[in-house]
Amino acid sequence: MRIPIVAGNWKMNTTVTEAERLVMEMLEKLNRIEGAEVVLCPPFVSLVAVGMMLEGSSIKLGAQNVYFVTAGAYTGEISPLMLSELCEFVIVGHSERRWHFGDTDEVVNKKVKAALANNLKPILCVGERLEEKEAGKTEEVIHRQVTAALDGIEHVVASDSSEYRLSRDAEIAASLVIAYEPVWAIGTGKAASGEQAAATIEFIRDVAAKTIDKNAAQSLRILYGGSVTAANIAEFVAHPQIDGALVGGASLKAVEFMSIIQQTIEIKGSTK
Ligand code: PGA
Repeated sequence: MRIPIVAGNWKMNTTVTEAERLVMEMLEKLNRIEGAEVVLCPPFVSLVAVGMMLEGSSIKLGAQNVYFVTAGAYTGEISPLMLSELCEFVIVGHSERRWHFGDTDEVVNKKVKAALANNLKPILCVGERLEEKEAGKTEEVIHRQVTAALDGIEHVVASDSSEYRLSRDAEIAASLVIAYEPVWAIGTGKAASGEQAAATIEFIRDVAAKTIDKNAAQSLRILYGGSVTAANIAEFVAHPQIDGALVGGASLKAVEFMSIIQQTIEIKGSTK
């Protein structure tokens, strides 16, 4: 049984003060949540403050990006080792990183491995652009992104000089989350349909089964993201293939985000 996840990607929004206010608004309700893993991903500068507010609660914290080197002369970057003291998850390969900041498949792969090597759980984002979808290339693009990102993750490089092997595929499945986020659906108000998302997510699971391991792929949580709201979340989580959502804009609204979490728990709970 895969435990559903609802993750909020705040992107480059909220000052520290605003982040604290938003968590305050959510905290009482968040603390009563059972039946789903909830992850808040505020900007780097708010991780400490939000982390302190979440202490003692079951709500998890995530970062939105990470560099792939542990320490060194990389002005302005944040290392996986630094994040490992602050949070449990990290979003990797978000399309905004791929398209605005040049994160290639190779870079995304390095980031996934660096995150895993530092005990961070990557939320790996994949998804096709509009022109790729219109050219019928969705599966080709997804196949490339997933196989590239997961390449060699069983041989995780812990530092520049030492290498160790994750002991079991099950461990990989427990520490990795994939989010299917079609680029044309992100921030546009034009979400994919539940059927479209479920079909692509099933495809992602098949690709993962060939890249990592069949059993590991079965336990891997795969989310949908892209214009998820309280009004459409039910359409996605009603599909057994979809294990939750990565929510952008709607995660900045306390009442709406709570509703997305509640609906996910109710629907997933009733289809067990
Ligand atoms: P959105 O963003 O929900 O605002 O479309 C989702 C995401 O980018 O993770």
